[in-house]
Amino acid sequence: MIYQILSNKWRPQEFNQIIGHKYLIKMMVNSLNLKRIHQSWLLSGMHGIGKTTIARILAKSLNCKKDITSQPCRTCANCKAIEKGKFLDFIELDAASKTRIEDIKIILDSTQYPPIQGRFKIYLIDEIHMLSKHSFNALLKILEEPPKYIKFILATTHLKKIPRTILSRCLHVHLSSIEPTCISNYLEQILKKENIDIKKEILNIISYSSEGSIRNAINNLELIISSIKKKKIKTSYVNKLLGIFDKHSIFILAQNIIKNNIHSVLKILDYAEKIGVQCNNIISSLIIFFHNLSIIKITTLKENNLINEKSKYKQKIYILSKKILFQDIQNYCKILIRGKKYLKYAPSPRIGMEIILFQIYQYTNEKYHVS
Ligand SMILES: Nc1ncnc2c1ncn2[C@@H]1O[C@H](COP(=O)(O)OP(=O)(O)OP(=O)(O)O)[C@@H](O)[C@H]1O
Ligand SMILES: [Mg+2]
Ligand SMILES: [Zn+2]
Repeated sequence: MIYQILSNKWRPQEFNQIIGHKYLIKMMVNSLNLKRIHQSWLLSGMHGIGKTTIARILAKSLNCKKDITSQPCRTCANCKAIEKGKFLDFIELDAASKTRIEDIKIILDSTQYPPIQGRFKIYLIDEIHMLSKHSFNALLKILEEPPKYIKFILATTHLKKIPRTILSRCLHVHLSSIEPTCISNYLEQILKKENIDIKKEILNIISYSSEGSIRNAINNLELIISSIKKKKIKTSYVNKLLGIFDKHSIFILAQNIIKNNIHSVLKILDYAEKIGVQCNNIISSLIIFFHNLSIIKITTLKENNLINEKSKYKQKIYILSKKILFQDIQNYCKILIRGKKYLKYAPSPRIGMEIILFQIYQYTNEKYHVS
């Protein structure tokens, strides 16, 4: 049997299997039930959160032989063809490779012909932000008033690059990144179906490092499963494989940042580099750590069940939280989040990370007049 990667094998085929995006799903289900479906949708959001998956389910819902339905049968010829990627009236295009006006003209010409197999001819245009200005302009009319049998689903990871003229002609829904706890629970469900046992702590590490993308999380899970022979997977191995700093090292790093001990901070970064920890992972871990610290400061230790940690470690964080003001933690987070956004522009990830940590160092120095 041909091996299918986990993210394809478990790609949701029905709306109720989608994780997150409750508002969009509810809206699509309602409009399908009422049979009032907008002609042009624009789905924006980061990679691997379900844009293509949702578009395919919508295509099935519109073309199921049963009826236009929010619960396509998955057994009729049309549903089956869409699931196999062989449905002639569902046209998936990657705008990144078809940016020119000539390419768009070919698409526009093809819209004159009604569907062959189904009720609707559906165009899913991915990475739409890559189109040239002329190509966008050429699309305006058809997006606003397409033939009755045409539906457009545009998808983008860069909403800011979409012209207003396009936005105003589409029903735009932004898909947020997925919460780590949802991702972790979802991975657990997949493992159950695969009959594989991996402890929750490891699933949490994978979820937090996937930065809100389900595809990233499933791919990392697959990497771990396929790189290990033994049944018992060690946390330290997972950290190493994913290039993540273990939680104790993050604690020590945060402790030194709070003490403004820049020499120790740099030494820890040397160590991180030596063992192959990725800089953006360190920044993400620090953001999560300081955010947890904020929560600890505004709640009592007992009522705080947000931090999913064993009590001894929690106690240590609690003691550390006494050594810093809430306002300072918030400013650290601001510097870290802003810095993470610009990390890709630094000459190297290490330099980028140092710049961010120097900003925190400078902030503390200026605030407390340390020379
Ligand atoms: N919301 C979700 N619920 C369940 N699984 C999901 C979800 N989003 C993504 N996945 C998983 O990730 C895989 C990739 O998702 P999809 O192709 O829909 O992402 P995308 O948003 O279109 O990404 P890209 O921007 O890279 O095109 C799916 O096959 C599925 O396994
Ligand atoms: Mg996609
Ligand atoms: Zn069907």
